[in-house]
Amino acid sequence: MSDTKRYPVPAAFRQRALMDAEMYQRWYQQSINDPATFWGDRAQELLQWRSPWQSVCDWDFSTGDARWFDGATLNVAENCIDRHLAQRGDKAAIIWEGDDPAESKTITYRQLHDEVGRLANLLRARGIGKGDRVCIYMPMIPEAAYAMLACARIGAVHSVVFGGFSPEALKDRIQNAEACALITADEGVRGGRKVPLKANADRALSQCPSVHSCIVVQRTGGQVAWQDGRDFWYHEQVPQQPVDCPAESMDAEDPLFILYTSGSTGKPKGVLHTTAGYLLGASLTHRYVFDCQDDDVYWCTADVGWVTGHSYIVYGPLANGATTVMFEGVPTYPDASRVWQVVDKHQVTIFYTAPTAIRALMGAGDQFVTGTSRASLRLLGSVGEPINPEAWEWYYRVVGEQRCPIVDTWWQTENGSILIAPIPGAVDTKPGSATLPLFGVVPAIVDDQGKELEGAVSGNLVIKQSWPSQIRSIYGDHQRMYDTYFSTYPGTYFTGDGARRDEDGYYWITGRVDDVLNISGHRMGTAEVESALVLHPKVAEAAVVGYPHDVKGQGIYAFVDLMDGEQPSQALIDELKALVTKEIGAIARPDQLQFAPSLPKTRSGKIMRRILRKIANNEIDTLGDTSTLADPSVVDVLIAARLNT
Ligand code: PRX
Repeated sequence: MSDTKRYPVPAAFRQRALMDAEMYQRWYQQSINDPATFWGDRAQELLQWRSPWQSVCDWDFSTGDARWFDGATLNVAENCIDRHLAQRGDKAAIIWEGDDPAESKTITYRQLHDEVGRLANLLRARGIGKGDRVCIYMPMIPEAAYAMLACARIGAVHSVVFGGFSPEALKDRIQNAEACALITADEGVRGGRKVPLKANADRALSQCPSVHSCIVVQRTGGQVAWQDGRDFWYHEQVPQQPVDCPAESMDAEDPLFILYTSGSTGKPKGVLHTTAGYLLGASLTHRYVFDCQDDDVYWCTADVGWVTGHSYIVYGPLANGATTVMFEGVPTYPDASRVWQVVDKHQVTIFYTAPTAIRALMGAGDQFVTGTSRASLRLLGSVGEPINPEAWEWYYRVVGEQRCPIVDTWWQTENGSILIAPIPGAVDTKPGSATLPLFGVVPAIVDDQGKELEGAVSGNLVIKQSWPSQIRSIYGDHQRMYDTYFSTYPGTYFTGDGARRDEDGYYWITGRVDDVLNISGHRMGTAEVESALVLHPKVAEAAVVGYPHDVKGQGIYAFVDLMDGEQPSQALIDELKALVTKEIGAIARPDQLQFAPSLPKTRSGKIMRRILRKIANNEIDTLGDTSTLADPSVVDVLIAARLNT
């Protein structure tokens, strides 16, 4: 890893940037030394309040609890829509680009207001109100954003479930949140292929008695089953509703949404975010990390099913009155020049994507990029996984033609908004480093005993102070929030990531130090994949680890021990991979599956994943001590049968 290479802010960019190095330093110092004044000022500048707060912040990392802007009231939809109407009613709020390059449309702030108002009224007409949970299982179409904002308008708590998740995964999330309604579509379209969302929803809903209403957007017109009394067509119901929908007054700490994310144990956790702190974190970071100004056309390629889509397609950009591009398709369809063609078509100025997409496009060849103009681009962003310096350099040189700074943004679902990233007009970049902390963020590196390490070191990344958009709870299991994030290194928030800090104080995220995988920037718990595999009657036990993958960052490697008498076969491999897809979704499908006559365990029966990781990574020479294994010979058998990755 080279940390000697350093790229200064390009001069032309600096000239029109919102923030320079002096301002970044001044703000950062104040945000740490006097958070109440700093955040109080930002809250006044960036958001519209219905009534003022009694205290800016009140937090305690010995429990993990935090309250921001206590006592204040506001409404997120009003902040994202209504307050822009006077100045920006005719400005594009959303530019939607379909999977098919011939399809796109623009939704102005005024149109957004009307669409959201009607849908919010329909939800109210269905008896849905403040505090009720609404699940959203949608393709990347504008109605997904309308649905989120309609919930926010009436104070309902949304739980967006990624459209690539299986009926089983959808069911678990609906049940956990006890959602009363589901908003979905007949089918989604991605890369020219249809995704049977309503059929998946029907399978899930057959086990979700809490859902009384299912609102279905007609996207493709494909055949769907129908349950009268429960199912409603969006296009039949929404247009009949009035546009005006008075927004609910929400307390700063009222829940805004739940978003399920994977951890190292058990089922995915419902990360709960609240109203004011979340919106402030999303809008402040969107504005300054992306240097987003009124004439920018900003495009984040994430899906609204992930936190990046929440904060940086919907809430951050719309709170700032920006134009946000929403893309239904995939970067390589119809071919690998698609994203750059979309950049030219909509004159995109700020482009934010994941390293996995950058690597895939890099692999396709420069000609797909250089055949397009990209002259509108002025800033590039990266998120979701460590970006390897080679991909960074390619993004910088070939895509951005050395004129666009790259913001490598580190954060997590639990954080709500970006925590470590270069402010582009202020901070020199280094390929592969997320660089410096943002306002209010106090990172530290600790050893395995929790001792804070000073200077240029590597270790576990923790955060020492609360920030406004931090996780507030895990839905239905508040204790689990403390156990997961605040108990490992008491008094701090533990990220689950490893990091290195260099001599300039720059942070380099090295990846997860727990049993969480990062597949193409998507989080997946090894325990979830293992639970799916052991559902198969022929499987006795399974252990899943990650291994380096050229495009996806990490691939999934599964070791499977069969029941006595069962025979390994290719057919069984296919069946097991299909089972994981069915239980969780295609993103969890193992890339490699190796049968193991038994798994390496300690004498107390604990699987030694460290050893399995080494085998999967082909680091056989550095296996380390295997003498504590109950049966060390197991390892030789696994090595002999190792798959070529
Ligand atoms: O390991 C880190 C990695 O993604 C994890 C968070 O995943 P999720 O909650 O799904 O949120 C992804 C998008 C915010 C982190 O624990 N990660 C995220 N961004 C980066 C990253 N790793 C390195 N560099 C990044 N920029």
